[in-house]
Amino acid sequence: MNLTIAVIKGDGIGPEIMGEAQRVLDAVGARFGHTFTYNEVLAGGCAIDAVGTCLPAGTVEACKESDAVLLAAIGGWKWDTLPGDQRPEQALLGLRKELGLFSNLRPAILIEELKDACPLKPELIAGGLDLMVVRELTGGIYFGDRGRQSVGEDKEGTEGVVAYDVEQYSDAEVRRIAHIAFDMARKRGSKLTSVDKANVLESSRLWREVMEEVAPSYPDVELSHLYIDNAAMQLVCAPQQFDVIVTNNMFGDILSDEASMITGSIGMLPSASLREDSFGMYEPVHGSAPDIAGKDLANPMAMILSVAMMLRYTFNLEEEATAIETATKTVLEKGYRTGDLYQRDTGQTLVGTAEIGRLIAQEI
Ligand code: IPM
Ligand code: MG
Repeated sequence: MNLTIAVIKGDGIGPEIMGEAQRVLDAVGARFGHTFTYNEVLAGGCAIDAVGTCLPAGTVEACKESDAVLLAAIGGWKWDTLPGDQRPEQALLGLRKELGLFSNLRPAILIEELKDACPLKPELIAGGLDLMVVRELTGGIYFGDRGRQSVGEDKEGTEGVVAYDVEQYSDAEVRRIAHIAFDMARKRGSKLTSVDKANVLESSRLWREVMEEVAPSYPDVELSHLYIDNAAMQLVCAPQQFDVIVTNNMFGDILSDEASMITGSIGMLPSASLREDSFGMYEPVHGSAPDIAGKDLANPMAMILSVAMMLRYTFNLEEEATAIETATKTVLEKGYRTGDLYQRDTGQTLVGTAEIGRLIAQEI
């Protein structure tokens, strides 16, 4: 295949980890006979510095014209003092909305070689951990109306203010993410947990109704519901009950961080943000880690595994995707570790960003 990939290196460790992901993708191209052409574009803090806006129009166009998008990381302290609507993170929200990427898949897998890094008691993870968070990505409170309103002066003459962010979902938005999640559950362990706050929120009551309405089309999938507070607790005290979790934008943001942490290796976890037609943007779950940027210390494996997700979900190249996952596992089995995973006196070999990328590419 001849494929064009929009490449957004972004900020912090972004350029380093993307370099390794491209090295691995080129190795896949060489082994399986595909040509990948990279269309490098700016978004995030680096775009603010270069052209004054975090998401230049040309970037969105280039992504739309490509077959898929790879994104490394966006943001950093340098831009923390900018007003909310000008921060680098707006580029991510803008890309998701403009590209119609409503479905966010965030796998949380405990890798056997890394199970010592899991912060949970060994008996809680005895049979391993393998769950998938399906997060609705273009609706809800992150995209609802927001603002501030003056509420007049109090008795002392001080001006009061109210700030608001609106959580809003249409039945159609819930239905389309429901189908994605049920399909995913069907391909995995056939268990779907829908997470909401239906004891308080009207939008959650609609969410639950639509999940129940869709369920009969998937009689082989067992659907259950949890409130978000309970789900957050269950995830750390009985994580093995979960297979696929489906939830709204904000709850999914929070739960997917929690799920990634219980695997002990946030530096290992990839994600996919997809449209109906399988076009997608692929990025690590972790952020831009400005404290270690440019030092050859970052773990590029989440970025590399995001490339595997791209090959699987957008290009339907299952063998190629598995080749990356197997190569990554083999390099770990051989004892190579980046600093975030390395443990002293265990016979492991500490390596940098470029070396682990080279080793994975070599395995392929
Ligand atoms: C994520 C991030 C983003 C989100 C931020 C950076 C806008 O936390 O991808 O989880 O909230 O979606
Ligand atoms: Mg997040």
